[in-house]
Amino acid sequence: MKNISSVGQPISRLEGHLKVTGEAKYAGEYEAENLLYGYVVNSSITKGKIKSINTSEVKKIDGIIEVFTHENRPSTAWFDFKYADMDAPPGNVFKPLKDDVIMYNGQPIALVVAETFELARYAAQKLEIIYEEKSFETDLKKNKDKARTPKKGLASLLKPPPPKPSGDFEKEYEDSFVKTDSFFTHSTEHHNPMEMYASTVIYEGKDKLKIYDKTQGTINSQIYVANVFGLKMKNVQVIAPFVGGGFGSGLRPQHQLFMAVMASLALKRNVRVTLDRSQMYLIGHRPPTLQHTKFGATEEGKVNAIYHKALGETSRFEDYVEIVVNWANMIYPAENTLLEHKIIPLDVFSPLDMRAPGGSTGMHAIEVTMDEIAYKLNIDPLELRLKNYSDIDKSSGKEYSTKELRQCYLKGAEKFGWEKRNPEPRSMKRGNKLVGYGMATGIWEANRIFARAEVIMTPDGKVEIKSAVTDIGTGTLTIMTQIASDELGLPIQDIKFSYADSKMPFAPIQGGSFTTATVGPAVQNACKALNKKLFKIAKKSENPVFSTYSFKDVSFKDGKIFVTANPDIQVHLKEIFNINGQQIIKTKNSAMPNPLTSGKNATGVHSAAFVEVEVDEELGTIEVKRALTAVAAGKIINPKTAESQILGGMIWGISKALYEETILDHQFGKYMNANFAEYHIPVHADIQDLEVLFIEEDDKFVNDLGVKGVGEIGGVAIPPAITNAIFHATGKRIYNLPIHFDQVL
Ligand code: MOS
Repeated sequence: MKNISSVGQPISRLEGHLKVTGEAKYAGEYEAENLLYGYVVNSSITKGKIKSINTSEVKKIDGIIEVFTHENRPSTAWFDFKYADMDAPPGNVFKPLKDDVIMYNGQPIALVVAETFELARYAAQKLEIIYEEKSFETDLKKNKDKARTPKKGLASLLKPPPPKPSGDFEKEYEDSFVKTDSFFTHSTEHHNPMEMYASTVIYEGKDKLKIYDKTQGTINSQIYVANVFGLKMKNVQVIAPFVGGGFGSGLRPQHQLFMAVMASLALKRNVRVTLDRSQMYLIGHRPPTLQHTKFGATEEGKVNAIYHKALGETSRFEDYVEIVVNWANMIYPAENTLLEHKIIPLDVFSPLDMRAPGGSTGMHAIEVTMDEIAYKLNIDPLELRLKNYSDIDKSSGKEYSTKELRQCYLKGAEKFGWEKRNPEPRSMKRGNKLVGYGMATGIWEANRIFARAEVIMTPDGKVEIKSAVTDIGTGTLTIMTQIASDELGLPIQDIKFSYADSKMPFAPIQGGSFTTATVGPAVQNACKALNKKLFKIAKKSENPVFSTYSFKDVSFKDGKIFVTANPDIQVHLKEIFNINGQQIIKTKNSAMPNPLTSGKNATGVHSAAFVEVEVDEELGTIEVKRALTAVAAGKIINPKTAESQILGGMIWGISKALYEETILDHQFGKYMNANFAEYHIPVHADIQDLEVLFIEEDDKFVNDLGVKGVGEIGGVAIPPAITNAIFHATGKRIYNLPIHFDQVL
């Protein structure tokens, strides 16, 4: 019997049909009886106080049910309960409608509730609001002197501060054969998932709610609502089966959830609150950063001195941190390092993790600096990376559990045709366009945390698996089904993965590229536990064929248990259900990193990106003609969905390098391009040949499945590879992102 493994197969996403036919329902699409619609009113000033909000005229409009402001909002548990969500930075969580204080432009200050969305939005514009304005600061560059070390909090567990200085950076740098000294600027970016933020709250009677929420974590939203509104956990159900993109924007409960729940509880009605596109720019963003790198290398190209400092924006109320400067020494084993990350509190909303937070900006500075070293020494940029290769994370002194980055470099370069590159800048041309090749390294975390799963088998041999985890478009549903299929030895058609419901077994927020490595092992363990139960029942058979065998001697395949060494000795599932009287069989199990060994090795995913650009110096156009990313991320469960993750990341990388930027006008403290017309992202014509290459790793340290994450790594190496390719094409070294046409003219 051929054992066709489900893991490793390029299975199309199981919910794909529902999504492309419009059958999939999103949070703002659920129908409910006598549904009311809330529209959020945003502050038009950046800092100060609300002197008054006149709601009386608006309340007279037919169809307007209520206008909630800080003056008449229900007093919920929120305001005297200190609570932070799973992704909260140290500080104080923002509390909508708490009082009259305005802390940032666009702050939600009222909710108009009406019988239709249009009416609520219309009425929102009619509100008379009088403010008392105060002066504010939103300019990162102007406030460099306000930089300080971030406070530590729970978030620091997954986001450790930079390692302490090592060796003697100053001396080594002074003595270095070549030195760089570069300043980088990165702009604000917004997540902009396709689906707008929405919560539909179904009022199910006294203090009992069913909530369809757009979120990356059903239980995170459930805990938030229960704590903030003083409800029992069991009376709050949060459901999010389809999520139209997250990218980090749904890691924290957003204010539409607060508003919808508040209105629903106060009015005892079903309420929906949806944000529009411009309001999507008020729920968090990738912070702008300023970075300074100084690398020193020997004549042979050994990078022995690394200095990397970063200043990032945060709000006045939370110390948002991301890992910007820790990476260089995790890849390049310099003996002398000085790394520092500081934040500058400004009058903006708190930044929020956005796909490869910190890594995608930090690695840009690091990999462009490496390219500068390569040119100063006249060494091929790829060779420079190989000269500084290490299997050890120098910053922790620990060996990587697996690290196939070398193969990413070599196989990637070969497939891309890197050897065709003439190293001389401005030396390659196609027609009237300059051609440039650039490459860069990518690195990201391979973390896992804790999750649970439940498995239920019915007498027909079908299985349902349950987990509260979401699928934000990454393929989680499909991958978990594949993992269960392999473990149980059943075809994927016989397995239903039920998910994204807070009533189901615990799963953390989906993010940090840790979902497959966290929930996958829980599903695997729960299936294993089910197999054990089945085997135990099989042993009770009147004709006990397994009497001399134990669990480790048997395999599960095609609805049968058989002795691995002698497959003729077998018991069918049908028989097992005959023995147990046709009862359903249930198991629950969990998975987490082994506390005894989890700190032993360093873990990470790695990539190498190669890019070809064409630059037209007369028009200033920059085109990414082709890009290849070679990725080492452990075992690939599903090459199709994994490739989609990397391709999406690569497109994001192109977008970050050449298009995306939210512009804050410091006169007004306001984002000026909060819409898809002026917040530029690539269109199809901007995306040309993209290729993904997986270098598989056999890593049983990270978890039994050997799986690491692919959600974020795809975007990390592309922006520096593009910047380096533009230098190769034009001879111009550009230190900011995005790079616009005027900089290459
Ligand atoms: Mo990701 S920024 O952890 O959703």
